[in-house]
Amino acid sequence: MGKNKLFRFAENEVFEHVVQPTFEELMAGNFPLKGRWNADMFKREAPLVLELGCGRGEYTTGLAQLAPEKNYLGVDIKGARIWRGARTAQEQGLANVAFLRTHVDHLLHCFAPHEASEIWLTFSDPQVKKAKARKRLTSPLFLARYKQVLKPGGLIHLKTDSPLLYEYTLEQVEAHKLPLLEKSDDVYADLVNRVSPAEQAVLNIRTYYERMWLTEGRKIHYVRFAIP
Ligand SMILES: C[S@@+](CC[C@H](N)C(=O)[O-])C[C@H]1O[C@@H](n2cnc3c(N)ncnc32)[C@H](O)[C@@H]1O
Repeated sequence: MGKNKLFRFAENEVFEHVVQPTFEELMAGNFPLKGRWNADMFKREAPLVLELGCGRGEYTTGLAQLAPEKNYLGVDIKGARIWRGARTAQEQGLANVAFLRTHVDHLLHCFAPHEASEIWLTFSDPQVKKAKARKRLTSPLFLARYKQVLKPGGLIHLKTDSPLLYEYTLEQVEAHKLPLLEKSDDVYADLVNRVSPAEQAVLNIRTYYERMWLTEGRKIHYVRFAIP
């Protein structure tokens, strides 16, 4: 393993705003932050927003700057990526940001029912093979988990370069009769021109993967829906 990665892993261990539970801890069913994220991590009551597959956490830290009244938690399995987000939060003095290193499949071991208010899915793996469709982060399996973790009326945002994941998500929204609040198959040519300046600022946050796809000329898609 490279020196850089080792350094990042070591720093993750000492960051107070990075949590890395072991598989055994989670499976034991008594993860101490479950149901206590606001009280014990953020030390204040505020809407809790999750970014799943956050990578370097550009949305987690970007949204935290735009809406300091909310608490933001980036979730990813890769420690070196989370480190980047954690460092950014530290450098920018963002007290409303934390990171959780875990597998998205462990969501229900990490959060109590109705603990979160919103979920962001940013450039998630589209899992193009049909056999892997259940692993898509907007599959019925994940929607059922989000329903447990989110407060009633909680929001889900999907930003993706993948037409497949975009169309699939719209199909799931329709099949589950979920309220569709916004959709666009071209965020920068369409959506940003018809939303408020505050929403424009949110949509204009660009992640590492998004910047890569934009240089390749791909369109960026966005869907926002609610879980009643
Ligand atoms: C395509 S990248 C997108 C990263 C970031 N959101 C961005 O837009 O730059 C997908 C991210 O999902 C994470 N990921 C993939 N499978 C995961 C899983 N099962 N649990 C947690 N994170 C996962 C990867 O580590 C990676 O950082």
